[in-house]
Amino acid sequence: ADLSAFNTFGLRARAARLLRVRSVDALRAAIAAPGWTETPRLVLGGGSNLVFGGDFPGTVLRVEIPGRRLLRTEAEAWIVEAGAGESWHDFVRWTLAQGWPGLENLSLIPGTVGAAPIQNIGAYGLELVERFESLDAVELDTGELRRFDAAACAFGYRDSVFKRNPGKWMVVAVRFRLPRPWRAVTRYADVARELEARGLAQPGALEVSDAVIAIRSRKLPDPAVLGNAGSFFKNPVVDAARCARLLAEHPALPHYPQADGSEKLAAGWLIEQAGWKGRDLGPVGCYERQALVLVNRGGATGGDVRRIAQAIIADVEARFGVRLEPEPVFT
Ligand code: EPU
Repeated sequence: ADLSAFNTFGLRARAARLLRVRSVDALRAAIAAPGWTETPRLVLGGGSNLVFGGDFPGTVLRVEIPGRRLLRTEAEAWIVEAGAGESWHDFVRWTLAQGWPGLENLSLIPGTVGAAPIQNIGAYGLELVERFESLDAVELDTGELRRFDAAACAFGYRDSVFKRNPGKWMVVAVRFRLPRPWRAVTRYADVARELEARGLAQPGALEVSDAVIAIRSRKLPDPAVLGNAGSFFKNPVVDAARCARLLAEHPALPHYPQADGSEKLAAGWLIEQAGWKGRDLGPVGCYERQALVLVNRGGATGGDVRRIAQAIIADVEARFGVRLEPEPVFT
C-alpha cells in the first residue's frame, strides 16, 4: 500500500499491509489472527507527526474509530469523549458549537483525536494534559483494553508513555475534562495581541478559536498545500546558568522560565540566527515564515528530511552549544 497520502509530509513510502481500524472489535480480530505477533506494526493517526524512513515491512494500522459525545455534566466540568479516529480540529469546533468550550487554543492542529495525547499536543498557552480526563487503549500484543488516567500517560512536553513505547498500544478513545465556568486562556502573547487587534477585550471561546486559526494560518504551512509535520524540533530546555550565559552573548534570545527553574529556548530563533530560515537542502526546506517547520518542496524522502535536520542540528550546536531534538516520530 502507498503511504504518501497518509503522512502530511507527503513522503513517499510503502507498507506491506495497510489495515484501516474502525472499531475495537475489528482491531481484536486482527490481533487474534495467525501471524500477528511476528508482524512489525505501526499505528497511524493523521500522520501529521511522522517521518517515514523508508518502506514499512509490516502492518500499518490506520486508526479510523469514530464517535463523539457528552459523557456527563459535573458541577465543575463537562466530560466529553471522542473516538480516536475523529479529526482533532473538527472535534474542537464541534465542542465549541455544542457549548462545551475549553479546547479552543488547540484549534487547527492537524491530526486525529487519538494522536493528540501521544505527544501531549500544545499551542498558544494550553497543553492537552490541562484538559485531559482519561483514555482507552488496546495493548497490541494481547488485545487487552486498558484505561489510562493522566498519571498513567506520564505526559511531558510533547511526550507521553505512548510516544516512548511505539507500537505497544493503540489509543481508541479519549475523554476530556472541560472546566466550567469557562475562562479564556490569553496568556500567550500572540493570542493577546490578535484579540486586541480584533477589539475583543472579553472574547468568547469561538473568538479565541478564530484568533488562533488566524495566527496559525499566517505562520504555519497548510499540509494540504505544502507537506510538513508541524514543528520539526522541540524547543530545547536548558538550566538557568546555561541560559544566563547564552543571554549575555545573545540578549534577544527568546526564553521562557519553567516551573522547575529551567528555561525553554525558542528553537525557531536559534535556527533563524544560524541562517537556515527559508533555506533548502535538496527537496526539503526550512520554512520561510517559521524556521521550526521543515517543508517538502516536492518528492522528498525520509532520507532527505534526515539530511537537512542533521545539518541544522550541527549548525545550531556549533553556534550556540545547544543540541536540538526532532519532535516527530521516525519509523
Ligand atoms: N521565532 C523566531 N524565528 C522563527 C520562529 C520563531 O525568531 O523562525 C521566535 C518568535 O519570534 C518567538 C519565539 O521564537 O519569539 C516563539 O515562536 P512561536 O510563538 O511561533 O512558537 P514556537 O516556539 O516556534 C511552539 C510550538 C508550536 C506551537 C507554538 C504556539 C514547539 C516545538 N512548538 O512553537 O507547536 O503552535 O509554540 O504555542 O513547542 C507543533 O508542535 O507542531 C507546533 C506547531
